[in-house]
Amino acid sequence: MPVRALGVCYYPEHWPEDWWAEDARRMAETGISFVRIGEFAWSRLEPVRGRFEFDWLERAVETLHGAGLKVVLGTPTATPPKWLVDEMPDMLPVGEDGRGRGFGSRRHYDFSHEGYRTECARIVEALARRFGTHPGIAAWQTDNEYACHLTALSYSPAALHGFRDWLGRKYQSPDALNRAWGNVFWSMEYGSFEEIELPNAALTEPAPAHVMDFRRYSSDSVVSFNRLQCDIIRRFSPGRDVIHNFMGRTLSFDHFALGADLDVSSWDSYPLGFLDQWAHRDPDFKAEFARAGDPDLQAMHHDLYRATSNGRWWIMEQQPGPVNWAPHNPAPRDGMVRLWTWEAFAHGAEVVSYFRWRQVPFAQEQMHAGLLRPDSVPAPGHGEAAAVAREIAGLDLPMPERADVAILFDYPSAWAWTTQPQGREFEYFRLVVDLYRALRRLGLSVDFLNAKSADPSPYRLVLAPGLFAWPQSLREKLATFDGIALVGPRSGSRDENFVIPPSLPPGLPAPLDALKVTRVETLPPNLTVPMEGQAGAFQIWREMLEVADAHVLRRSADGEAALVGGGSLRYLAGWPDEALAFGLLKDLAEEVGFPVLDLPAGLRLRRAGGLTYAFNYGGKAVRLSQHGIAGNFRLGSDDLPPSGVAILEA
Ligand code: GAL
Repeated sequence: MPVRALGVCYYPEHWPEDWWAEDARRMAETGISFVRIGEFAWSRLEPVRGRFEFDWLERAVETLHGAGLKVVLGTPTATPPKWLVDEMPDMLPVGEDGRGRGFGSRRHYDFSHEGYRTECARIVEALARRFGTHPGIAAWQTDNEYACHLTALSYSPAALHGFRDWLGRKYQSPDALNRAWGNVFWSMEYGSFEEIELPNAALTEPAPAHVMDFRRYSSDSVVSFNRLQCDIIRRFSPGRDVIHNFMGRTLSFDHFALGADLDVSSWDSYPLGFLDQWAHRDPDFKAEFARAGDPDLQAMHHDLYRATSNGRWWIMEQQPGPVNWAPHNPAPRDGMVRLWTWEAFAHGAEVVSYFRWRQVPFAQEQMHAGLLRPDSVPAPGHGEAAAVAREIAGLDLPMPERADVAILFDYPSAWAWTTQPQGREFEYFRLVVDLYRALRRLGLSVDFLNAKSADPSPYRLVLAPGLFAWPQSLREKLATFDGIALVGPRSGSRDENFVIPPSLPPGLPAPLDALKVTRVETLPPNLTVPMEGQAGAFQIWREMLEVADAHVLRRSADGEAALVGGGSLRYLAGWPDEALAFGLLKDLAEEVGFPVLDLPAGLRLRRAGGLTYAFNYGGKAVRLSQHGIAGNFRLGSDDLPPSGVAILEA
């Protein structure tokens, strides 16, 4: 396995067969090593039930392999063919509005449907038997982008049936479920599991514990759906990595749980589309970075997904030019495709694979750029990919080690605060992004840890924002942690059954064991709570604390405790705006002895393996030494042009 390599997504079934060899030759010439194929090809692999037509795929694999390329073979289960849907129409998912979601695009299946799972097992086994030990097959991709197009949650009869079974196993008796969900409220008590409906059926807001269990059930279904494929592939294709390609800002299933079944996590990075869709940046910022993408969002996903499969991760799809699916689809500034690729490598990606080789002139994605234009002439992204290929070949770069700061992340917390946000703006992911941004501005590098199993002990600074319920193990680890842990806001404010803990949140260990959140409020836009003696304010969410004066480290201008501390614990009683997040984290970073910077919005760093990678997302040149960044340059120089990349020994 090469430590750093490029890949590309290719669809042999979209092109005449007599183009394949030339495509493969040009890929290799570009410096590409991996090619992902096959993930949407079911209708060509099995045009009618039982008639497997795999010869063309074998010829494609042979052609690519013959050119020295390594194939990542996708299982085609994101696109079940029409004949299969017609055989069992109840495999289609149902939307929250109760309407069936039909054939004619992709992802038209329900994770709970046992019949569809059997069909998936059948096609995956047939493919794995035929290709599992082929020397050209280096890895597998299961399905494609689980949950894309809002498909993790389905309100189908299959889901209802599966949910009832899952509840029966979890609670054993309806009484236990009634107690856990608080069903005495509004006479919601059930006499049997068969009476329980899906939460979209209720007239108004369903019980939050009901929704949480449905979210858990739905996440478990995605995980077990994927595991079925992993197990089959491993049986017939030993020694090959099993990969899935996650999507950005997708929270509807627990990626840690799914990642535990993978050898390698990957994700699909589309920086420009992301920024355009991201609601939490003002129009000036969006205009400034329209051709570069948000300088922090991609990096954050790299760090998050790195944590989901023990450190091994790829970019399976990297934006190569304008995409087709965002509200607006600008072209990247020259150099950005190279920069994005390097930023992924700086965060430890083994492979960065571009989506797609050639722009396809027909069907839904005809407006989506490829490395080649539809007429096979190189598009601008092609030259940048080739440049990176030359650069990685000439540089021997170590993989990243542990980062400075850890953020504890928890998918159920995202479900919880969507279920009961209390204020429209309270979005778990955004809270994490806001803190991550402040850390990046300080020039710090970040690891994410699964809150459920995290071991914070190797880190000097750990953040635990917005954790719905305490994993008991984490609370115990924090009791003996000797770095600094910044907890809150909202952390520990419910138990697993969505109940406010009897002794009131946050339930921290000593010396903050007497701390109580006694009241919370949410703040509408433009209502903020300024701090006393510190720039910035709380926005969106704010808590009132009962705490001994001796523990108060900072107050808001209205005299309430805003940050409290004792031993290694700090508790933050609100959602900090940009200035406050920066100021608070700067203080904490300095307290634990990290050197900090104050980087301009377009300049970002990543420290890894004794190297500092510098990226200029901005449209103007920057001089690194003016921002406190100096060292022996392995790539680039002190003057970083727009879209520039530098690597320093520092
Ligand atoms: C991804 C997907 C690809 C393609 C791409 C377009 O979400 O996996 O198949 O649709 O987006 O940007």
